[in-house]
This record gives sequence, structure tokens and C-alpha cells, in this order.
Amino acid sequence: MAFSIQRFSASVTAFVFGHPFPTEAVVAKPLQGQELEQVFGSSSQQVAGSSIPSQYVSITEADDGIYIRYSLAEGDAIYGVGQNMGRLNKCGQLFKTWCSDEFRHLPDKASLYGAHPFLVIKGENNFALFIDYPGEMTLDLGFSDPSQISIHIPTHHVRIFEFTAANAKQQVRDFRSLIGQPYIPPRWAFGYQQCRWSYYDKNAVNEVVEKLRHFDIPCDSVYLDIDYMEEFKDFTLDPHRFSDFSNWVAQLRQQGIRLIPIIDAGVKVADNYSVYQEGHEKGYFCKTETGDEFQAAVWPGLCAFPDFFQPEVRQWWGKQYQFLTDQGIDGFWNDMNEPALFYSPQGLQQAISHAEQCKDKNIGVHEFFQLKGAFENLSNRREDYQAIWHQLEDGNRINHEQVHNLYGQKMTQAADEGFKQLNPDKRYLMFSRASAISGHRYGGIWLGDNHSWWEHLKLNVAMMPGVNMCGYLYSGADVGGFAGNATSELLCRWIQFAVFTPLLRNHSCMGTRDQEPYAFDENALTIMRQHIKLRYRLIPYLYSEFMQAAKNNENLFWPLPLEYADPDAQNVEDQLLVGRALMCAPVLEQNASGRYVYLPENMLLWKVRQHDKFDLKIMPQGHHYLPLELAEMALFLRPDSILPLVDSAHHVEAQDLSSLECLVYLHSSAEYVLYHDDGVTHNWQHGAQASLKVKVFYDAENKIQQDVTIEGDLPYRQVKLTIIDQFEQVVVRHIPIA
Ligand code: NOJ
Repeated sequence: MAFSIQRFSASVTAFVFGHPFPTEAVVAKPLQGQELEQVFGSSSQQVAGSSIPSQYVSITEADDGIYIRYSLAEGDAIYGVGQNMGRLNKCGQLFKTWCSDEFRHLPDKASLYGAHPFLVIKGENNFALFIDYPGEMTLDLGFSDPSQISIHIPTHHVRIFEFTAANAKQQVRDFRSLIGQPYIPPRWAFGYQQCRWSYYDKNAVNEVVEKLRHFDIPCDSVYLDIDYMEEFKDFTLDPHRFSDFSNWVAQLRQQGIRLIPIIDAGVKVADNYSVYQEGHEKGYFCKTETGDEFQAAVWPGLCAFPDFFQPEVRQWWGKQYQFLTDQGIDGFWNDMNEPALFYSPQGLQQAISHAEQCKDKNIGVHEFFQLKGAFENLSNRREDYQAIWHQLEDGNRINHEQVHNLYGQKMTQAADEGFKQLNPDKRYLMFSRASAISGHRYGGIWLGDNHSWWEHLKLNVAMMPGVNMCGYLYSGADVGGFAGNATSELLCRWIQFAVFTPLLRNHSCMGTRDQEPYAFDENALTIMRQHIKLRYRLIPYLYSEFMQAAKNNENLFWPLPLEYADPDAQNVEDQLLVGRALMCAPVLEQNASGRYVYLPENMLLWKVRQHDKFDLKIMPQGHHYLPLELAEMALFLRPDSILPLVDSAHHVEAQDLSSLECLVYLHSSAEYVLYHDDGVTHNWQHGAQASLKVKVFYDAENKIQQDVTIEGDLPYRQVKLTIIDQFEQVVVRHIPIA
């Protein structure tokens, strides 16, 4: 078995087989020469051998590829695997890395839209793995045999990373430092966002904006789904339904609303459509083996698919966004980029021939199901993917099957490269549906076509830490659920969780019940208003924690078992830490008037019914039943933590940042450094950052003292401290900032 070893640090090693495809997932370089010797001594020069010196797993090569195996001990848990089904602990499940256009996120689905093969094993041994391979592989995490992890990679060309730092959080940090800093959205992208597939014209959008403003629901953006395009053609506008576009964009901007159009991967095949024409003439679309243009149907009918693997194609595609940025647009969502294929002409022809053979026959039940399947399985057929070929920079061609998982993220890379050409200083909002490791450097992701099911609210909670571990910090689910009909109760509870997710977007499918906050009863409207306003109050904290997480390779959401060692915390699946100061414990059951919570330490509960009124109570470490009416949500502060808050407003840029309020849960000494920057440019990378440091502590006479210090240019002029000590005594202080 031929392999070589790359060392990235004392606790990060890669085993390299054959000539792996350059996925660009890992940006760090392996240690070499003196650096390597300093860390490992001369013995580290071993670069090849016959048995893999993995500390924990067995790696073997067989005719059908490479196998990684690990014997699970009783009580071992597995975290990570990014955007996938299941609970936080993934033990007992089977996953396949294959970016899939998956409308029904049923519990046994092995793949969703992202391919994120990073997993953390916690228990008898503690280590993590990342398998850098862009095709399909199988991760059997105790599914076939509860005592075995068995990973099959059907290739002889792969890089397998092992992370051996002492604890899971450090292993995640090591992984993240390998794959590079995540995408940073503009600050306004932390506002509430309203979407629906079927805002058919400007009137429909205007009505949404009017109602949101009328009902006093803060909002920063409204989305344009495929309805805005002419015949579903990318980078076009329907001239009748979306006429006078740039003036309209400007008018909405005046009201604090940004429009965010969708862009699809498939380009309509049409003679009179310049994007297709140019791409076709220049040979920019994916080909078949014989060199013809690969075509399959998506929304506009037959489409061609840009070959994003070619830098020149990415450059061309990236420039197309200018059609919309020139009209005042500064955010997009990239969709259908697995790529989703409704049917290929070949597949359809086969199904039709199949049907013709059955015509006039008294077919039996087996033939009937075969016939049904011939049509039902027309979409995203493996044969169609296998018919796609990509042109690589080195002149070689590669079959899509081997690099499938990179397609979507290369589309996002193309957009990012385009934005950098257009305006290198500006942050654009960009998130994608399909993703793999490395796409996190170019955009965020949303979690795809979920349902208005309570199970999918739970899934949203379980997925956030997983996608964070893979670098996707700017992420969130379709709040309320995309498919199916949300109840007002589900939407209220979902918003109460989603106030913490950086992407807070209510989105629903055409044909479903209206899902805007005002579309339900009066009571629900009041509840949603309160909690969306709470979200705006939390933005300084969420933004600051997001930036710290991005810069320091941290998650925004951590599962409790990765933070606390105590045995009871190990089983907590439905509470998450949000940044360094907070823990959330959302209600995830229908008709529930409360929930059980486990507090690994004493915590300060803010039972939020009204965004601007504190209802505070210290709760001791341990198990509790917490009554929570529909109008109430639980927000917990950790001991010696500080939560910065500002007033809500109709949109982020209208928020008054002159006065900062800090809720302090004081045990002995609490400190918080609030990060701030301009929120719209990349200048923070060149030092344009500011911070406000608040420290609250007891002096020698046991009196509460505070220090507020600032660095850089800040909008805050005064800080109000609301300090709760261990005995629930409240002290309020106003500190002017010079
Ligand atoms: C599929 C996307 O996942 C969904 O969000 C969108 O509304 C539809 N495509 C229509 O564009």
C-alpha cells in the first residue's frame, strides 16, 4: 500500500494515497524541513511505508478503494458530518457524501445538499477525521454494526486527515485552521429576511414590505425567487412584472429593504438569450464524453451547465452578476447547483419507450411499479451525472462522478471571484444550496428544502453545530419550513430558535399556506414581532461572536457535550451554546407549555416575552422543568458573562448604536470584548476594527466595580450596565464613553 504522510502540526496528520484531486479544501501547507524537524525530530522524515501509523483508526486498501475502520466503545459519540440528517450524536447512522437535490428530508436520507466528511469521535478515544475526496463515499457510523465505524472511499487517490488534539473543540479548531477563514457577510445580513417562492410581481413584493412595516416587523431583505426572471433565465428580468427594476430597487432601499435575487446553475438553452449564446460559442458549458454540450432540464426547460471547474468560465460567470449589481442589488442566493437535473432528454426518452412497451398490455404489478419508477426516477439520475465531463486547468478532462460534490461550491466561488472584480472592498451577501468543504470561504449555505414539521425544527438545531464545524458560520434553515403548511405555533417556536442563527430567513414554497409573520392570528403576530425585535437587540452580540468565531476558528453553535465534561451534559441534544455567553433551549414540541432543561452550571435565565423587558431568574445547576408559554422563550447567560444589547429598529442600518446595554451575570469577574467594524467592507482585514471592553468585578472591599475601555472608532456613547449578582441583587449603572 503506497502512501505518504504529511504533518501539519503535532496533532494534525494527513495520509496521502495516490494522486488526490486538488479539491482546494485545505489551504494550510504541510510542515517541511526545519519546521518539521522542530515538531517531530528526525524520525518524522518517514514519508512512506507499508502500514499506516494512524493513532486510532485502521486504514486498509482493497480492490474497490480504501477503508477506514474504528471500533466504537460503549458510550462513544460522533459529532459533525455537517449538513445531514439525524441528531447531534450521529452514532448508528449511515451517510453518503453526494450533494443531492433532496426535497424530502426524511430521517433515513443519507445525503442532503452538502458534502461535509468531517467527524469528531468522542469517548474512549478522542480524535477527528476529515476525508478530502470530492466524490461519493459511504460513512457507516455504527449503522451496519453498532460497534464499528466503517468508511469506504471508492478510490485509491485520497487525503485522509487525522486530528489528535486532546479535546473535540481543539480538533475542530485545528480542522478549521486547515481549511481557512469563512465567508463574512455584510452586517445587514443579520437582520430578518422574508422570502417566498411566488412573489410573482413587484406588487406582491411591495405588499409584503408594506405589511411588514405596517405591522412593525423589522426586516432587512425580501427575496426574489425564480419568478423575477424572464422565462427562468438567469441574469434576466421579466420586463412586465419587474419593469423599471433599478428605480424600484432604490425605492425599497429607501425603506431599508434590500432585494436578494436567486441565481440557478442551469442556463436555458435558447438562441435569443445572450448568456447561453456566449457560453455556447465559447465552449463554457459542461460536455459529454464525445464533446457535445451536456443538456438536461431544470425550471426553464433544457439547460446547459457552466463548467465551473475552468477558471475562465468562473470569471465569465462571475461577471454576469453585474447585470443585477449595476441595478443596485448587493446579495444573491445560488440555487439548484448540485446540480439539480429534472430530466435529461435521454432519460425521458427511455421512460417514454418504457411506457410505449407497456401500452395496450395488461401489465402485472411488478411491471407497473417499474413503469412508475421509470418516471419517478427521472430526476438527478446517476447515469446523467456520469454523462458529464469537466475540463481541467491542466488540459485533462474528468468525469463528473469523481468530482460531483465540488460543482455547487465552484459556482459560489465564481460569484465570489466576480464580486471581487466588481468591487473588491464590498461585502456581498452570498449563500448557496450545494456545498462542500472550501465553499465556506466564498459564501454561506441555507439548509435546503425542509418541511413545516416540528422534526425539521429539531433538525435545524442539530445541524447548526455540524455545519459550523465545517466552516459554514453564515447559515440557517428556511424558518417555518419550506414545504407543507406551517401552523402559527410552529412558526413562533421556530423563530424563537432562529433568532440565534446568523441567516434568519422565513421561506416557503409556492402553493403552501402564506407564512409571513402577519399571515396568522393576532397573538402569533405579537409573539413573532417581539422575538424578531429581540433578534435585532442581539445583533451586536451575534455579529461580534460571529466575527470572533470566524477569526479564531470557533463555532458559533457548540453542542453541550463538547463544552462540558459532566455526564449529564453528554446527553443533551436540544440545547446549544450560542457564542461564549449564551445558551439557548428552544421549545421543540407542539402544544408544549414548557420543557425540561439541563443546566451544567448555574445560569441566569431571561424568559423573553418582551424584547425590551428583563424577566430574570438565577437557576441552579441541574435538571429543571421550565414553563414556557408560546409567547416566551428561554435565553440563558453563563456565569460571569455579559450580553451586549441595543435597541431594535426597522432594519439593521437604522439601529441607534449610541447606547449599549449590557446584561451582566456576575459571579466574581465578568468580561466581554465587543467587536465592531463598518459591516459593509473588507477593511477589517486591514485593521479597521474597533472594540469595546466591559469588565465588571468585585474590588478588595467586595464592591462591584467596572471598567469600560474602547479601542478604535465606535458608535457607542454610553453603556448601561444591568448587573445581577449571585444573590439576584440588581445593580444598574450608566457609564458615559468619552
Ligand atoms: C429550490 C430551492 O431550494 C427553493 O428554496 C426555491 O424556492 C425553489 N428552488 C424555487 O426556486
